[in-house]
Amino acid sequence: MVTKIGLDLGYANITVSDTMAGIYREQSVALIDRDSRRIISVGKAAIEQGDELSDRAMLVRPFKNGLLFDRQITQSIVSYVVGEIPKGERLRCVIGIPSDLIQKQEREVFNILNDSGIAECYAVNRAVAALIGAGGSPLDSVISVNVGASATEIVVLHNGLVTFTSRSPIGGEDFDKAVKQYIGEQGGVNVSLSVARAIKEQLGSVWHGKEESCVDIEGTLSLTGNSVKMSISSEDIVGVFEKPLHSLLMAVANAIKKIPLDQVEKIFAGGIVLTGGGSMIHGLDLMMSKVLGISVRQPSDPIDSVAKGLSIINSKIPVMGNAGRKNVTDVIATYYKDIK
Ligand SMILES: Nc1ncnc2c1ncn2[C@@H]1O[C@H](COP(=O)(O)OP(=O)(O)OP(=O)(O)O)[C@@H](O)[C@H]1O
Ligand SMILES: [Mg+2]
Repeated sequence: MVTKIGLDLGYANITVSDTMAGIYREQSVALIDRDSRRIISVGKAAIEQGDELSDRAMLVRPFKNGLLFDRQITQSIVSYVVGEIPKGERLRCVIGIPSDLIQKQEREVFNILNDSGIAECYAVNRAVAALIGAGGSPLDSVISVNVGASATEIVVLHNGLVTFTSRSPIGGEDFDKAVKQYIGEQGGVNVSLSVARAIKEQLGSVWHGKEESCVDIEGTLSLTGNSVKMSISSEDIVGVFEKPLHSLLMAVANAIKKIPLDQVEKIFAGGIVLTGGGSMIHGLDLMMSKVLGISVRQPSDPIDSVAKGLSIINSKIPVMGNAGRKNVTDVIATYYKDIK
């Protein structure tokens, strides 16, 4: 039996989707020994051991802004995750890649997958996969916006053809940094990025209507370094996301500006499909729709859309009887035409 998976290597998370077995997600992080560079653990275990071993080891994220930084660490994380999922005799993988990956980088990605025990692999543009994972069709005329933790990828499709792609270095982590900076400036308290992220996820909003709430956090006083406990309310962080929100909206506005006049009506009718964990901050869909004057829809599980779309695409790729190693983004629409 062939197990057909979708694999999304993100800055924050690595997500595997199997249309039969469901979604498996792990943090894209490894704990490595500072001196020997040996990998001690990956994923959740790395985070758990990170504090305990902080004198001799450090946490490393091997992908950023859609690109791979460290082959060895990437391979360890992929091998670990692939080892965790139940599979049949053969594994066929479709991996999500940014639109502007050069051929040499694409080959490197395929080499890593092959060396991780995946013999047959294909690549697809991540924002196209996100559209399909969110229930859209590659034959649509639509704008797909995938907001990750480190990057936002956008594709514009017109009658099933990709007419524009972009990747901007703005994502959920920029919203975390805004929270961290605000607490540092207002209260003179340093908090870690992971605490700032938790505050954003629980209290953050870019539009009205989120219920008021509070979280208790721990940080250190900037002046003395003494640890301090404090309470933050949603009211406290109203307005802190202005800068990253502006950059994100500008990235989408720039894509809209590039749409040729004769395609505008159809693409606006299709609207924006908004996905990625970074898009889950409360109210982003409404804010984007109001500011850009276009309808925005978001699936209920936007953080899984890329991986889900990749596994759906995998289930449609015909058996080719070879080792794959192809980017199939441009031919996905033909799989759908054949089915119709
Ligand atoms: N409920 C939530 N509210 C706000 N943000 C959230 C929520 N849940 C997750 N996030 C954010 O989603 C981001 C992770 O999303 P995702 O897994 O799509 O990123 P990634 O694919 O790893 O990153 P990239 O695509 O940039 O490589 C983090 O910034 C996280 O804080
Ligand atoms: Mg992503």
